[in-house]
Amino acid sequence: MEFNKVIEKRRTIRDFQDKLVPESIIEYAIENAFKAPTYNHLRDWDFIIINGLESKLKLIESEHLDKIINITDLEKLFEKEDIVKKEMYLDAIPKQKKMILTAPSVIVVLFKPKTKVEKAKTIYDLNCLASVWTCIENFLLSLAEHDVFGVTFIPQNIDSIKAKLEIPVDLEIASIIPIGYMANDAKILKQKTINIPERIHFEKW
Ligand SMILES: Cc1cc2nc3c(=O)[nH]c(=O)nc-3n(C[C@H](O)[C@H](O)[C@H](O)COP(=O)(O)O)c2cc1C
Repeated sequence: MEFNKVIEKRRTIRDFQDKLVPESIIEYAIENAFKAPTYNHLRDWDFIIINGLESKLKLIESEHLDKIINITDLEKLFEKEDIVKKEMYLDAIPKQKKMILTAPSVIVVLFKPKTKVEKAKTIYDLNCLASVWTCIENFLLSLAEHDVFGVTFIPQNIDSIKAKLEIPVDLEIASIIPIGYMANDAKILKQKTINIPERIHFEKW
């Protein structure tokens, strides 16, 4: 597929069809993920492919996603926000548990930190995190080429997930990515329009 078509096609999807993603598509996306640039040339990344309910429930339990969400409270919380951002949160927040449960596969992306994130003092210390996100973008683009979409969920309770999924202590979780084919009524949220020329600067800001 043409490069610009893949870039256009990749969107965050939180509503999935009940249809398995072939392992070959996931593995090909992981191969492409490993072609991304990396800060130390080592590409210290790992992928856990979760297909079973038991492991999905471990993620939901660790992240306390079982709480009931009151839409009126949520609307109040975002009432003063930019409309595009508000629409995104009002759609996304209630779907955090469902998207993990209904995605046919959930991918946990791991990286080896050079410096513990909480000890980072400079941007340089976060090169490992920056690198794993270049890898995640390659992964998402490769899936999109095959009509498979995902949503990058960022966990808060990493230690709990690491313990439940037996992840080595020296690795960190960059993202948990429910993936699948888009449901027929999947919500594709508006992207904020950016005036690109305004964002490009020459010689100085
Ligand atoms: C670093 C990062 C963190 C994100 N965290 C979440 C998340 O926790 N839950 C979620 O549903 N979406 C999450 N997203 C998805 C964004 O909401 C989405 O990328 C954004 O709204 C833009 O939409 P688009 O990807 O369709 O262009 C995250 C995306 C990024 C890059």
